[in-house]
Amino acid sequence: MAANYNNSAWFYDRLSRLVYGRAPINAQVYLLQFVPANASVLIVGGGTGWILDELTRIHPSGLRIAYVEVAADMMALSKKRNIGGNEVVFINDAIENVETRDFAVVITPFLFDNFTEETTGKVFIHIHKSLKTNGIWLITDFQLTGKWWQNILLRSMFLFFRTLCGIESSSLPDVEKQFEFHGYKIIEEHTFYGDFIKSSVYKSA
Ligand SMILES: C[S@@+](CC[C@H](N)C(=O)[O-])C[C@H]1O[C@@H](n2cnc3c(N)ncnc32)[C@H](O)[C@@H]1O
Repeated sequence: MAANYNNSAWFYDRLSRLVYGRAPINAQVYLLQFVPANASVLIVGGGTGWILDELTRIHPSGLRIAYVEVAADMMALSKKRNIGGNEVVFINDAIENVETRDFAVVITPFLFDNFTEETTGKVFIHIHKSLKTNGIWLITDFQLTGKWWQNILLRSMFLFFRTLCGIESSSLPDVEKQFEFHGYKIIEEHTFYGDFIKSSVYKSA
């Protein structure tokens, strides 16, 4: 069953802030410095869209952005964001159903931790084909580094979002394996919230 984040749209940001403070925001804002001026940018699973406000703070204009979000309620909130003079095309669909090509940058913030290994493989290939050679892939996701509380938080999140939004996964997929397999090079990496959140910058070959 595909995830449906509509049920959580109205409280998602508040809940995230309550549990993780500013860590998920800092983790994504950290990545935005790697977006060059006037770039074409594909954002997948942007949630309520606050990342558009942050991107506009750094690049008030000049970006061409495709914003792909499957949950209609998340999309409705995203459309209210400040995009300044940037050009944004909002696409309310699953990325697998959207023809996207030749982007200089793709951003997937907490997208893959929703997916099983199988879906991860499919979605990864689809997004990979959307990125130019020498393109930049900015990714933030949860990771387990052996701290006991990480497992507890992760399990609670899976249980909560499986019950409410029907997410299909119950463990984190191995996205690093996908980057390696498709020949990506890691450029920068930074962790947040006691290493539980990792933001990485990859370059495509
Ligand atoms: C865990 S939330 C993260 C939201 C946001 N990036 C944030 O950090 O607050 C994942 C988001 O990805 C969206 N999503 C899940 N699968 C998707 C897909 N196949 N295509 C596009 N969006 C998807 C969900 O609707 C949800 O808004």
